[in-house]
Amino acid sequence: MTQIPRQQEIRSFDDRRDIVIPGSTEKTLTYCVEHFISIGNEAIATHGMFCVALSGGSTPKTIFQGLSSATNQSRLDWKRVLLFWSDERSVPPNDPESNYKMAMDAGFNKIPIPKQNIFRMPADSDDLPEAAKAYEKLIIEHVPEKTFDLVMLGMGEDGHTASLFPKTHALHTDEAERLVVANFVPQKNTWRMSLTFNCINAARHIAIYVLGKGKAGMLKHVLTSPYDPDTLPIQHIGTRQHKALWIVDDEAAQDLLKQERR
Ligand code: 6PG
Repeated sequence: MTQIPRQQEIRSFDDRRDIVIPGSTEKTLTYCVEHFISIGNEAIATHGMFCVALSGGSTPKTIFQGLSSATNQSRLDWKRVLLFWSDERSVPPNDPESNYKMAMDAGFNKIPIPKQNIFRMPADSDDLPEAAKAYEKLIIEHVPEKTFDLVMLGMGEDGHTASLFPKTHALHTDEAERLVVANFVPQKNTWRMSLTFNCINAARHIAIYVLGKGKAGMLKHVLTSPYDPDTLPIQHIGTRQHKALWIVDDEAAQDLLKQERR
């Protein structure tokens, strides 16, 4: 395992994962915003559009706020941006729990993205498995080669990511080609809709945002304990061809750095 320096440089953690530790929470959030804008511009320059799957959670919220600031808004050609979601809770779009509502309220409502470029996950549908198939169709229709330019992810305190929770059905979806699934999460006694490992791991860029000291223990656990994605689903993110980039602030990195110093 490579030594992890506390600096803005991206380093290889292992053959499926890169890591960057930009510094304080503020610096890390700035890094996340810059990273988003740079991948967006690169995608637009390469193939004329930027297809991104947004995540729920507290960190992305701050990133979305940053993106919608007056200065940042003008740094991306938003007409060419297609917004999808990496997961959604089974609530209507105006519910405070909705990942769609969070992203729109945090910033995307202020940004001039054409309405037809915004693809909310309809996880409030009465027939969630069918709705997941319909969302998958939308991805196939609108996202070239079914390959997102960027999938944004967070890490839950139990090691879940998107709505791929420990020991849930979606971790073992037998249809290897599926991009989106409905997933019952017994831990929360609720249904979710989520991109699959297959879809996430095919993305050109995968960003996992881990900020705050509350995440320090789990971050170290996930990155250093033996591979067991049934218990720690986020361990399955990243492949040799499409490495995941872990963007981590000082506080979240503290246990990992302690271990490296020993
Ligand atoms: C959700 C998510 C989920 C989230 C993590 C981290 O809908 O809840 O998409 O996977 O990203 O739980 O969330 P925080 O950033 O709030 O810790």
